[in-house]
Order: sequence, then structure tokens, then C-alpha cells
Amino acid sequence: MAQARKIVVLPGDGIGPEIIAEGQKILEAVNERHDLGLSTRTCVFGGAAYDETGKPLPGETLAACRDADAILLGAIGGPQYDEAPRELRPERGLLGLRSELGLFANLRPALLYPELADASSLKPELVAGLDLMILRELTGGIYFGQPRGIEERDGERVGFNTMVYRESEIRRIAVRAFEIARQRNSRLCSVDKANVLEVSELWREIMIDVGKSYPDVELSHMYVDNAAMQLVRAPKQFDVMVTGNLFGDVLSDAAAMLTGSIGMLPSASLDESGKGLYEPIHGSAPDIAGQGVANPLATILSVSMMLRYTLREDAAADAIDAAVSSVLAAGCRCRDIATGHAGEHVIDTQEMGDAVLAALQAGEKA
Ligand code: IPM
Ligand code: MG
Repeated sequence: MAQARKIVVLPGDGIGPEIIAEGQKILEAVNERHDLGLSTRTCVFGGAAYDETGKPLPGETLAACRDADAILLGAIGGPQYDEAPRELRPERGLLGLRSELGLFANLRPALLYPELADASSLKPELVAGLDLMILRELTGGIYFGQPRGIEERDGERVGFNTMVYRESEIRRIAVRAFEIARQRNSRLCSVDKANVLEVSELWREIMIDVGKSYPDVELSHMYVDNAAMQLVRAPKQFDVMVTGNLFGDVLSDAAAMLTGSIGMLPSASLDESGKGLYEPIHGSAPDIAGQGVANPLATILSVSMMLRYTLREDAAADAIDAAVSSVLAAGCRCRDIATGHAGEHVIDTQEMGDAVLAALQAGEKA
């Protein structure tokens, strides 16, 4: 057996613990069946960590994450933390983790399962076969730029942030984007606001420069407002989109809805070496937390991405993806992806996890 590889699990807040339980079920199953030699350790993070230790990212959790090969995260945040000091809110814990671990490349694939074409907010013919990848820069831009703050100026309060990108930051995300495009359909659309922002002007210039080393990849550019419109008008025109932190946050939520539900979308956040944090892109959904109705598929698919991108266990990842496809084909739906069609069974979080597990076991026997 290979040397034990360490996975840190961060259930977090809201529906986090519920969906993570299902993700872990699947992770444990493939670990055993594929003899992956993974060891897992659960740590407190986000609001749960703030409640327990007074900090959203306790030192012990950060140290465990640094030491891990990969991290599986549920979700963080909730309205009960709105009044906490800004520096101690759960979101700051997540941003701190991304930045401390240098997880600059955020892959957010939006893939429409044929069975879910009717669950999309767009007409089925516009989304059938949709398979796009958003690559979001995750440790720079306006999320981290200095100066930032709220202060008193001329007798009134002023809030400010700084949108800043260093050439090296643009270059490294550009390289990732071209590499990913090359593994797909070799079309890359860089999204910016170069008609207004200097930071985008530089972004575009560097994208073009890096593109010279990838003549086989077709590079295009789009302003972010147009990109938002094109995503809901004709999303299949895109193969890979690369963009900065804030634009990527917004566009990836829009892209998620095209696939039927944000409850379906996994993500990977990778550092230079390929080590990564894997999480569903939806939030902690406090409104449905504790009801057992959250869709665990985005988390289960995040486990699959972890196996593929960091652990390089493609066979195990393929097995999970196939199991998810087969439960959808069999009509299993959590509430968020149910359309009321005949042949659908609406099931809860745990039943969905069990259905994927059963499909995994059946698939591997065949
Ligand atoms: C996301 C989330 C986070 C972000 C929040 C929770 C800080 O919306 O991962 O997209 O804005 O990056
Ligand atoms: Mg977001």
C-alpha cells in the first residue's frame, strides 16, 4: 500500500456537516476499494471554530491543513455571525486559508447532466451538453488588495477596497488557464473590464503575452458585463473562462444555475504544486440546515475532483462520476434538482449519499 496520504476534513457550518458526512462516506468507500491509503482527520473551521475557539481559522486547523495533501471543506457562515467583528467572521477564515496555503487557482466546472436539462433556469436546448470551466484567480484582486477599510473622511464614513494584480499573479493564473484549455477544447476566454480598469488593462496584456506560448489555444477577451449576459444567453459558446477573484465569484454562481442547481457544483482550489482545497461552490444554506434536504452531490463531486487533481487517482474519480450519473439516470433527485417529472424520486441528503454509494458498489462489481 502507498504511504498514507493525509486528508483534512472541515465540515464547517449550516448544511456543511450534513453534506460532508455523505462526501466522507464516498471517500471512505473508494479509499477501501481502491486501496488508496488515505487517512482523514476532521478539524473545526468557520463559524463552528469561532464558537469553539474564538477564531474562524484556529492555528491547529491551519497547521493540519498545511500538513495535509488535500482538504475537503463543507461550507461556512451563517446569519448568527453577522454581528461578529469583521476579522473573526467565518468568511475571513476561508479567505485566510486560501491565502495562507497559496490556493490561487480555483477551478469551477459547470457541467450539465443530461437528466437535469429541465432543472436549468434556461431552456433545455440552450444548455444541453453544457460543459464549461471557470478558472477564478483566488488569492489576489480586490478580495485581498490593500488599502482597505472603513474610515471617517470629511465628516462622513468612507468604505474602500483596492483591486490590484501583480504581473506575476496574472501570469501564473494565465499559464494554468492555457494548460487547462489545452486539455479541453483549446478555447480560452479571458474576462475583464479593460475598458474601465487599469488592473484589467494589465490583465489583458499579460493574457495575450502568455498566449504567445500557446498558439494552439484560441484566446478571446470579453468584458465582464457582456460575459454575464452571454452566460445566460448562449452559454455553450464557452470552453474555459479565466478571470479575477471578484468577477469569478459572480460569474461562477451564474454558471452554476445553468446546470440546474448550485447544489451540483464542485470546485478545486490549487496551489503551485497541485495540492488543493476541495469544496462545493454553494454556501452553508442556513435556511435549510438541519433538515436533511441539502443536495450532497456537489460535495461528492468535490471528492472526485480531489482524487483527480491532487491525488492522481483517476480510476477512483471516474468511478464516483459514473455513480453520480447513474443515480441521476435512475431518477434520484434532492429537492433542489427535482422538476416534478414522472420517474423522479425525491430523496433526502442521506438517501442521496446512500444511492451514490450503492451505485459505486454496483458499478465496481460489474
Ligand atoms: C465562494 C464564496 C466565498 C467567496 C465567500 C464565502 C467568502 O462566495 O467561494 O464563492 O466570495 O469567495
Ligand atoms: Mg461565491
